[in-house]
Order: sequence, then structure tokens, then C-alpha cells
Amino acid sequence: AALAPASRALAGRHILVTSGPTQEPIDPVRYIANRSSGAQGTAIGAALAAQGARVTFVTGPASVPPPAGVEVIRVETAAEMLDAVRAALPADAAIMAAAVADWRVAAASDQKLKKGEDGPPTLTFVQNPDILAAVAGLSLGRPRLVIGFAAETENVLEHARAKRRRKGCDWILANDVSPATGIMGGAENAVTLITADGEESWERMGKDAVAARLADRIARALA
Ligand code: CTP
Ligand code: CA
Repeated sequence: AALAPASRALAGRHILVTSGPTQEPIDPVRYIANRSSGAQGTAIGAALAAQGARVTFVTGPASVPPPAGVEVIRVETAAEMLDAVRAALPADAAIMAAAVADWRVAAASDQKLKKGEDGPPTLTFVQNPDILAAVAGLSLGRPRLVIGFAAETENVLEHARAKRRRKGCDWILANDVSPATGIMGGAENAVTLITADGEESWERMGKDAVAARLADRIARALA
């Protein structure tokens, strides 16, 4: 028989994770999206499952495969991600690691847009729903712990603190994703955990290690 894991601190918990980018159609062959490999969200899903949690993993089209041992729900758009998240509740905790497209094209074309004499098309955007804020703001059935990410390229901590308050989530993981850091698309991450009680900067480490530490913190918070 396989050896039992050292600890199964999240056994009996249901945890929701969003991961990857969303893709918002322009026409049947084109979309807009954020850069996101899904690596950090996938590592978080795996770390939670390793601690015994039942994980619902709602993912956009990521470039890494989803973790084993979780329930995978594949979506494309932010609207679909919100629907899938709602359907997955209730949960003890929710971690929103997805890079959700902030805008979608107001009226995506049913037919492929063609080049022509009129020149390039002008796209009109509308704002997508904020999934993290929606879950954090639930008056009925809010997960006890709602966690977001703040991927920033400047004034990282200031933006992240404001984001935590604005969205009403419990914790936010701030990270600097400036191209020079190599974090986007890389194997490592350097995050600061921001809670109502204070801030903690974690040394730069593998995305798997960030995920394991986060899973450990979640287990303690839910205990
Ligand atoms: N998020 C979300 N739904 C959205 C936008 C963001 O759930 N429509 C979540 C992300 O998964 C992340 C957190 O909110 O956990 C912060 O995302 P971010 O893009 O940094 O924040 P925004 O509020 O979109 O602000 P901006 O992009 O303008 O910095
Ligand atoms: Ca955004």
C-alpha cells in the first residue's frame, strides 16, 4: 500500500480554485486574453488536493495541464467562469488565481471579420464581471476564506492593499509580474501575503513551494 501523506490537514474541506486566462471572442477565430500559463493556479490546486481537500478547479485555456485529483471544469470566457464558480459553491475557501480578461467585446461577430476597404475594425469593449468580488461579497454562502491575487507591474503593495479592500476578500497575494522578474511564464514566484492582520513577504521560491505554503496557511485558518 502507498504510504499515507504526512498530513491531510484539509480532509473534508471543499475548496474552489480559478486558474488560467479567460478568452473573450472577437469573432469565431479571434479572441483577447491575458497572459497566463495557469502554472501558479495549477500548483495551488495540486497542493490543496495533496492535503486532502476536495478541489473544484475552474480553469480557462491554460498552457499547463490541470492537476490530478481535482474536479476540472473548463471554461473560456469570464461569464462562463462566473457561472461555473457559482455552480461550484458552497465551498470552505475560494482561491482566485485566474487572469480574468477585464473586458469583452461588446458584440462579438458571428462571422469571421474580413479585411477590406473599410480598414481595421474598431472594437467596443464592456467590462466583465469581477468573480472574486462577487464571491467575496456574497451575503449568503460566502466561503469562510476568500483569497485573490494581485499581479502588478508597479506600486505592487499599494495596489494590492487597495484591491483587497475594494474586492472584500480576506487575503490577497501580491506579486510583481514586471517582465524583468521572469515570473510570468516562469517556474518561480515571489509573493507578499496581505491579510487584515498584516503582511508577510515570502522569499522567491518555486510556484509549487508557494502553493504548498499557501495550502498550509489555509489549513491553519480553517482549522
Ligand atoms: N478577478 C476576478 N474577476 C475579474 C477580474 C479579476 O475574479 N473580472 C480576480 C483575479 O483572479 C485576481 C484578482 O481578482 O484574484 C485581482 O485581479 P487583477 O486583474 O489584479 O485585478 P483587477 O480588479 O482586474 O484590477 P486591474 O486589472 O485593473 O489591476
Ligand atoms: Ca484585471
